[in-house]
Amino acid sequence: MAWIKLSSPTVRETPETYAPFAWPDGRFQAFPAIWDAPPAREDIDVLTVIERRRSRRSFVSLNHDQLGQLFWHCARTQGIATSDLGFDLEQRPTPSAGAIHPIHILVKPAQTHKWFRYDARRHGLLEVEGSESELKPLEECSKGVLPSEDATQLLLVAEPGKTSAKYECGESLIWRDAGALLAIMAVTAEALNLAFCPLGITGEPWASELAAPGILMGVGMALVGGNPDRPPERAPSKPNR
Ligand SMILES: Cc1cc2nc3c(=O)[nH]c(=O)nc-3n(C[C@H](O)[C@H](O)[C@H](O)COP(=O)(O)O)c2cc1C
Repeated sequence: MAWIKLSSPTVRETPETYAPFAWPDGRFQAFPAIWDAPPAREDIDVLTVIERRRSRRSFVSLNHDQLGQLFWHCARTQGIATSDLGFDLEQRPTPSAGAIHPIHILVKPAQTHKWFRYDARRHGLLEVEGSESELKPLEECSKGVLPSEDATQLLLVAEPGKTSAKYECGESLIWRDAGALLAIMAVTAEALNLAFCPLGITGEPWASELAAPGILMGVGMALVGGNPDRPPERAPSKPNR
């Protein structure tokens, strides 16, 4: 293997200012908010969940609420702080270098060829206009890796300019952010009794075609669905609070 050296990141002496990519406006569909953590139960203790986590390759279709639960617990915005980088920093359940969170999660539910983007602040899905045809080859490529008519496809799309505003040689940080996100997703899916499997494909060359060259980059894929061997975990939902 010819190892591609990504060098070691350093914080820029003077941060750059980056204007985040403006995704085209799309129809927004909110998930129900989940205000409380799932009830403390021995079998969803984090160590027990990690112990029983496995990559699972059989899926049944997820409904909108189950997908919302997954994203609430692993990807929503929990806190925001201003920065001099041109965008706000965020706290989410996953760690991210510099609290930058440069990775967008794109979602293709099983029942459609349309792709959506998870909006971490509003906790909902935004349709990505035009992505149906752009990402059709990726949908097929994913099915070639792991056939999965009933799985929801997840595509991690990085916006390297965000990380690069703060760090020189920040490429490896983005790959590590992608790994951290996959790991937290896998553990969250297990806690919710969902089936989850990372895929080795990155989403390239298709993911980067969603924007002008150099703005977006595919950094991973995964499949998620209901686990046919287990009943779904019910998390409390209080949308009216
Ligand atoms: C980065 C990454 C890429 C992976 N790619 C695939 C894949 O393309 N197809 C697949 O079936 N499993 C894939 N897996 C799952 C691994 O095969 C799995 O983690 C490994 O066999 C260990 O099993 P476990 O996750 O059940 O512990 C991937 C896992 C990771 C972390």
